[in-house]
Amino acid sequence: MDKELVIVIDFGGQYNQLVARRVRECNVYCEIYSYKTELEKIKAMAPKGIILTGGPSSCYEEGAATCSEELFKLGIPVLGLCYGAQLMSHMLGGRVERAEVREYGKTEVKVDRTSALFSDVSENTICWMSHFDYISKEAPGFRIVASTKNCPVAAAECVERGLYAIQFHPEVLHTLEGSKMLYNFVRNICGCTGDWKMEAFVEEAVNSIREKVGSGKVLCALSGGVDSSVAAVLLSKAVGEQLTCVFVDHGLLRKNEGDEVEEVFGSEGNYDLNFIRVNAQERFYGRLAGVTEPESKRKIIGEEFIRVFEEEAKKIGAVDFLVQGTIYPDVVESGLGGESSVIKSHHNVGGLPDYVDFKEIIEPLRNLFKDEVRRVGLELGIPEKLVYRQPFPGPGLGIRIIGEVTAEKVKIVQDADAIYREEIADAGLDKSINQYFAALTNMKSVGVMGDERTYDYAIALRAVNTIDFMTAESAQIPYEVLQKVTSRIINEVGHVNRVLYDITSKPPGTIEFE
Ligand code: XMP
Repeated sequence: MDKELVIVIDFGGQYNQLVARRVRECNVYCEIYSYKTELEKIKAMAPKGIILTGGPSSCYEEGAATCSEELFKLGIPVLGLCYGAQLMSHMLGGRVERAEVREYGKTEVKVDRTSALFSDVSENTICWMSHFDYISKEAPGFRIVASTKNCPVAAAECVERGLYAIQFHPEVLHTLEGSKMLYNFVRNICGCTGDWKMEAFVEEAVNSIREKVGSGKVLCALSGGVDSSVAAVLLSKAVGEQLTCVFVDHGLLRKNEGDEVEEVFGSEGNYDLNFIRVNAQERFYGRLAGVTEPESKRKIIGEEFIRVFEEEAKKIGAVDFLVQGTIYPDVVESGLGGESSVIKSHHNVGGLPDYVDFKEIIEPLRNLFKDEVRRVGLELGIPEKLVYRQPFPGPGLGIRIIGEVTAEKVKIVQDADAIYREEIADAGLDKSINQYFAALTNMKSVGVMGDERTYDYAIALRAVNTIDFMTAESAQIPYEVLQKVTSRIINEVGHVNRVLYDITSKPPGTIEFE
């Protein structure tokens, strides 16, 4: 492989894949490796640049995550971010200490624009800080090129050795000019030309799937969501009818969604593959009866899904490969992302069928973010309607119903959600809001309708804008639209007498309302 490569070395921070993704945005191919990766292996890959990520350790403590000092002598530019910057400074003779207070949040940083890192960046720029430790003295030979009120060394560089250290996080959007800084590093300092594109991803993925699968049989659990649909089409493009897709309708899909999935992927649909639909609503409702705790619901739905899927797979017999539409945010939030920790269990990761007879798993989208998956979908010629479908969690409405899930509650939330989506589309807002849905709170309260007292549920409307689904802001839907949605839901959906609008951002909330 003679393509340009930048390596991200993972020290366990939450934003590591974001770093990789920002590099891909510079049209440079990027891979992430654990900090435990052997130096020889890194050398053999001949990267044009190396980025050390943030992480939870303190670099001066015994047993802290570290790397070989030789890494700084390879003649390859190295950029340390947060923990990576501290580690670099500490190993090369600077001083890193515990600060009295944590520096957290948006912070004004004054940068030295003569540094190649900050070329075209404003002199005073807003950056995202999140650290307890700080570099109190830069390493010998380094020059300070950015500082804040509390942080004397917000960035330092040793140009002759190609070493750069940044205390803040340029990879998150809160750092307003962070993408420019990473661009400066990758394109100007490392000298990458930026000839890598999404088409290259599709071509490489199709070729490598063909090579791996040969004449083998492939099985895919299709949910109808963007991720599993893109994975299925990628596989169908690579191996055609060697692929069988099983679509389990767990009765927790949006209104009419089961039929829509069948229209696209079924025998009347567009693709070369075998499609099987299983209607398993009753089984899921049965297993969920009486269960209220969100993680338990997720686990039950995940497990039951696997049981149903296994039963279908048994009918097909032995297969060679199992496809999963896992994307990167699923991986990191399930705590499987290299060195990072668990936030919540995701239905499509972590649970694997025990009794399906397969040799290997294929996860062609494992390193991509949602918007990158959509770009792959478009590249593959998947209809826009499907590609821009909102993300929908594997456990479906099961986690958009607070408390116990029942068939009656599913119907309420489906109907309310369908009205909400219809009105948002009617108002021309469907393309500009990244994710929106109705959830059913478990709260009943008193209302009055006609001349009668009611005691019914409250529906919560959620709408967020986000780029990467790791952070999000609530969307500002015009009041008239909210009013129309509210009155329609209350008039048309039984057992609802209140509609609430959730304006919490993520963090501290999550996007789902579970
Ligand atoms: P949260 O609620 O964690 O959601 O802020 C982030 C994004 O992930 C989606 N989500 C899921 N997607 N399986 C999925 O495929 C899941 O179990 C799951 N849980 C949340 C959520 O809709 C949002 O887009």
